[in-house]
Amino acid sequence: MPDFATPTLGEPRFPSPLKLSNVPGDFIADYTRPDARILYDPTGATPGVYFELAGPRERIYFEGEGTTAGIVTCGGLCPGMNNVIRGLVRRLWYSYSVRRIYGFRYGFLGLAPRSPEPPMLLDPGVIADIHLSGGTILGSSRGPQGAEEMVDTLQRMKVNMLFVIGGDGSMRGTHAIYEEVARRGAKIAIVGVPKTIDNDVLFIEKTFGYETAVAIAADAIKAAHVEAVGSPKGVGLVQLMGRSSGFIAASAALASREANLILVPEVPFDLEGERGVMGYLRWRLASRGHALVVVAEGAGQEHLPKSDEHDASGNVKLADIGQFLRERLVREFKPEGASIKYIDPSYIVRAAPANASDSIFCGQLAEEAVHAAMAGKTGVVIGYWAGRFTYVPLTAVITGRKVISPDSAFWRSVIEATGQPPLLNN
Ligand code: F6P
Repeated sequence: MPDFATPTLGEPRFPSPLKLSNVPGDFIADYTRPDARILYDPTGATPGVYFELAGPRERIYFEGEGTTAGIVTCGGLCPGMNNVIRGLVRRLWYSYSVRRIYGFRYGFLGLAPRSPEPPMLLDPGVIADIHLSGGTILGSSRGPQGAEEMVDTLQRMKVNMLFVIGGDGSMRGTHAIYEEVARRGAKIAIVGVPKTIDNDVLFIEKTFGYETAVAIAADAIKAAHVEAVGSPKGVGLVQLMGRSSGFIAASAALASREANLILVPEVPFDLEGERGVMGYLRWRLASRGHALVVVAEGAGQEHLPKSDEHDASGNVKLADIGQFLRERLVREFKPEGASIKYIDPSYIVRAAPANASDSIFCGQLAEEAVHAAMAGKTGVVIGYWAGRFTYVPLTAVITGRKVISPDSAFWRSVIEATGQPPLLNN
């Protein structure tokens, strides 16, 4: 079990300017006590392991006036990035009177000397309407830059706190910045906000953008269902993103309730043979007249040539399971008169603006991130666990990626909803 203790820059020296309370029942929201914790495992099976609860502290480390903040958005686009930028700027400005807020351009590249553009100065006017649009007003990019040069930039610009909006790859880059800052003994708070449609950040129940992605993906599944039932022996095939985690595919299938087979990276399957995918679909077409398959982009990679290529974030480039399955389905069923319709909504899913629940979540994550940095918390990502906002140290977050547990109630629901056999193996 990794260490969940939250690093801090030092003793909080100043009283918070927020007019909150410590008295329950006085009709005023309360500060979060510095010793407030939540059990990592609510069943009690892992006793003594806790996350520190996020929230505004009564004593803080930075005085708002004179403090400089930086914001950077990294990695692939994701619904809600603009909502988080807006939330950060508004809380910094209105809650803590921070007046110098830089928006670094195009991910970590914006912190490097070769940045294509200088940082933007952000204030409530600049960000007023940005939550209505998808993407990020700051731009984004993949890949880390040298930690030393990025920290040089932060120190040169006298940045006291950096908010990194990114997924698991970006959190590795953020950790490198945090370590370099610590090595120099600089007092710069480094706080991550967990962004990714893939929902694969470790020790965090939900990342922002995921729910919007699921809602849009569910529409693609509904369209494929309409197509599948609209012709004799109709087969719908939808490929969804998610890298090595099948969360988007599984949740979108649960949301739509139309899919008959979900293939995710976490559960291997045979393609051929009576008990493999083709055998199951043959049975399904014979008995029900149509079939709808949802495949996560990382599923079934063992059936495709392995790639040695990596993207700029260091992720292995996945082979195209969607196209591969489409061709295989055409070969198998077209001669018998089946009609195969393939939908890959990929970038449509992640370029959308945040839906209602993500808008709420993004605003809350931004608030917690600002409270964390003002209190001097550093080297942390704002987490969400058992319905509470938490601090998760970057050192813990970067130890792996969250995937679906095939033993979980979540995966059981998927199997129950689709009616597919739990295993597709001969
Ligand atoms: O991590 C987010 C994500 O959208 C993944 O689901 C997908 O595999 C990947 O990014 C696509 O990356 P790119 O933007 O480099 O095409």
